[in-house]
This record gives sequence, structure tokens and C-alpha cells, in this order.
Amino acid sequence: MSNQETARRGNIYGIIGMLIALTATIAGAQVTSYGVLAVCMSIGAVIGIIVAARVQMTAMPELVAILHSFVGLAAVLVGFASYLDPTLHYTGVERTIHDVEIFLGVLIGAVTFTGSVIAFGKLSAKITSKPLYLPARHWLNLGLGLLCVWLGVEFVGAETAAAGTIPLVIMTLIAFAFGVHMVMAIGGADMPVVISMLNSYSGWAAAATGFMLSNDLLIVTGALVGSSGAILSYIMCRAMNRQFLSVIAGGFGAAEGTAATSGEVHQGEVVPVLADETAEMLKNAKSVVVVPGYGMAVAQAQHAVCEITKKLRAKGVNVRFAIHPVAGRMPGHMNVLLAEAKVPYDIVLEMDEINDDLPDTDAVLVIGANDIVNPSAQDDPSSPIAGMPVLEVWKAGTTVVMKRSMATGYAGVQNPLFFKDNTRMLFGDAKASVEAILANI
Ligand code: TAP
Repeated sequence: MSNQETARRGNIYGIIGMLIALTATIAGAQVTSYGVLAVCMSIGAVIGIIVAARVQMTAMPELVAILHSFVGLAAVLVGFASYLDPTLHYTGVERTIHDVEIFLGVLIGAVTFTGSVIAFGKLSAKITSKPLYLPARHWLNLGLGLLCVWLGVEFVGAETAAAGTIPLVIMTLIAFAFGVHMVMAIGGADMPVVISMLNSYSGWAAAATGFMLSNDLLIVTGALVGSSGAILSYIMCRAMNRQFLSVIAGGFGAAEGTAATSGEVHQGEVVPVLADETAEMLKNAKSVVVVPGYGMAVAQAQHAVCEITKKLRAKGVNVRFAIHPVAGRMPGHMNVLLAEAKVPYDIVLEMDEINDDLPDTDAVLVIGANDIVNPSAQDDPSSPIAGMPVLEVWKAGTTVVMKRSMATGYAGVQNPLFFKDNTRMLFGDAKASVEAILANI
């Protein structure tokens, strides 16, 4: 899965693995009501097929977030069912271990559930991407954490199932609230880390469910998702120049009380350019770097971009793509789009690989990207994106920025790049602009 060429095969292995897991579960001794199971699985399968078939590439991150929430909810439900199951009779140490597994599984599952629902809301713009801070939030989190530990002790020490249910329910409600609070406090540009973190949490929730059910396969796969999600979160943190711990504590990315500004704050004159002028510039360039962003995904401009690339390369122009680690709305978003359009992998470079070449590049095409090319990440310590590494496109000969208006990007901050002397703005839908350039080339 770590390589684009083999990722398709990785997915096929994943599907086969799921099929084996489902078959083994259905054939298991615990399953007796095949009728009920068939109805439930049919409903789930129909919903899954419809949603997956209909989802737009741009809505993929929201879909991933809501699927994580299902994993969390499943862990909560399995935890309660496993606790209340009258056929399970554990005693002594075994019972304590089983109770701890249930408590942790429900806790992680509940945080994952509501955290992912809020992430879904933020990614689909149903909830504002600005961070929401409650007063003394770190103390509040600490207090809730300690309360959960106390409830855990009460739960494990409870004599009867009825007595244990009360602390379990209270803890579940607290964990629901904690999940909401944690993700609401995350500022716009820092959502990528949260997505990979929730991915990791969903894995740990599944692993905890595996412990509850004494299911080795679920433990192994859950741990696999949990640890790979944690590694991805670490990679994301490094890419964003953020501390992992401050991500988990929530509310990083914008200093307290200075929520990102939005709207149009003009910082000088912008110089518009037309598609035919841009085409002329590209034809005369020796080296061109394309920076794709979320707007390219929205406009579905990747196929036309690939055509331009082919034409320019045929004329001997050195065309390369620069991929910022958080471009778009999910890890690898741009790579997937470019692979779909059959852009050769060897000209698609990571930010670290290409940033040093930008001063020697004649022309840069920024297609629907904004935050990832914002110089204020370097120049303005008070900016909500301060410290985030960015593609230094302003160092190139000429930079053409394609977008529809002067609106801000996901982080809601104005971009001084648009007002630089060597920047040209090509306004309009990215697909229409790229096709117009293509026609002129
Ligand atoms: P953004 O900063 O969101 O900028 C995208 C730009 O595309 C917007 O300014 C918009 O301007 C333009 N646009 C939208 N639709 C367009 C269309 N049809 N045609 C032309 N332009 C269009 O995107 P980015 O530069 O890719 O940066 C990603 C941002 O998302 C970062 O802040 C990142 O932290 C955040 N984020 C990333 C992820 C992951 S994992 N990648 C997850 C969540 C959040 P107009 O409206 O003026 O056209």
C-alpha cells in the first residue's frame, strides 16, 4: 500500500482478507440466526454499494471519516453487548481482564465515533472549519480523563451487571463529549492530522473489540490499522511541522483566541492573465512545475492537465508536478487524481524533492491550490498556518494561479502570493482554464 504502482494489488488483498474474515465469522459456532444475519448484511451491503458508487472523488475524505465513525460505533455496541451477554460467565482474573477490555473498547470506540462525525461535518463544510475553544479546555480534558479512570475502577469492581452498567453508560457519554470537543478544537489547515489520527483510533477500537470477542483476526487487523494510522499521523505531523502530542491534546494550529480570519482582505493589486497568454508562456518555458490543489479535484481538471503535460513534453519542456503532503482533502489525494489521469509517476515529486528546484523553474502553474503555496506560513508568525512547510512557488520566474475568485482556501487565510510582482491570476473554473490553455497550445 505504500507504493502507487502496487496499491491496487494491496486493495485486492484487503478485499480477499475481508471475504475470508466474513466467511470465517459466518461459519463460526456463535452464529445461529442466519436469517437475521442475512437481512443485516444485505442492508449493510446495499448501503455500502450505493454510497461507494455515488461518492465523488472530492467527497472521499468525508466518506472515510463517516466510515471511521461506524467502526467506533460498532466497538461501543459490541462492548455493551459483550458486557450484558448472559451466556458469558467469566470469573476471577479472567473477568477483570474482560471488563477492562470492554471498558477500553467502549471508551476508544465512543471517542472515535463522535470525533469522526464532527470530522465528517467539518470536511463536508456542514460545520465551520474554524477551531472552537472552550475556556480552560485542557483542564476540562484532564478532569474528564480522571473521571473516566475513576469510573473504570467502579466498573471493574462492580458486583452485578446492573451495577456496572451505570459507570459504563456515564463513561460512554463522557467519551462521546470528549470526541466532539477534541475535533471541534482543531483549526482548518490541521484537519489532515486528525483524519489519520481517527483512522488510527478506529484501528485500536477494532483491536479492543477483538479482545472482547477473543477474536485473533480482529486483534491483528485492528492493530495493523491502529499502528499504520499512527505512523501516518506522525508523517502528517512532520509534514505540517506540528507536535504529535499537541495534536492529541487538540486545538493546535491557531493560537488561542485567534481563530483564522476569512473573507477577502486585499493586500495590493493582482495582475490577471488570459489562457492564451499562459499558453504562450508555457510554450516558451524550458521548465514548468504544476502544483495541483483541492480546486483541481473539484473541477476534475486532471485529465486536461495530463494532456497539456504530454504536449509540452513533446516540445521538449521539462514538466514536473509538485505534491504538497496535505494538498487536497486527504492523504495522497493529488497522487490518486494524477494516477487516474495517467500522469507518469516519475515526474510527480514530493515537496521536499522539488522545493529547491523552484528558483530555477521558468513557470509554475498553481491549479486550484491556495494554503499549500501561502508564503505567510514562513513570513507571518501570527498566521494560523505559521510553521507549515509550503511550496515556494514565488521563487520561480512566473507563477500563474488558477482559481475562480480571491476567496481563501481551507484554512481561511488570505494569500500574499496573489499580490506578488511575478504572480499572474487566471480566474475561472480550473477545468475550463486548463482546457483553454490546452486549446492554445
Ligand atoms: P485550499 O487551500 O483549500 O485551496 C483550494 C482553492 O481552490 C480555493 O482557494 C478555491 O478558490 C480553489 N477552487 C475551488 N474550486 C475550484 C474550481 N472549480 N476551479 C478553480 N479553483 C477552485 O487547497 P490546497 O491548497 O490543496 O490545501 C489543502 C488545504 O486543505 C490545507 O489547508 C490542508 O491543511 C487542508 N486539508 C487537507 C487535508 C489532507 S489530508 N490533504 C484534509 C483536510 C484539510 P476559489 O474559491 O477562488 O476558486
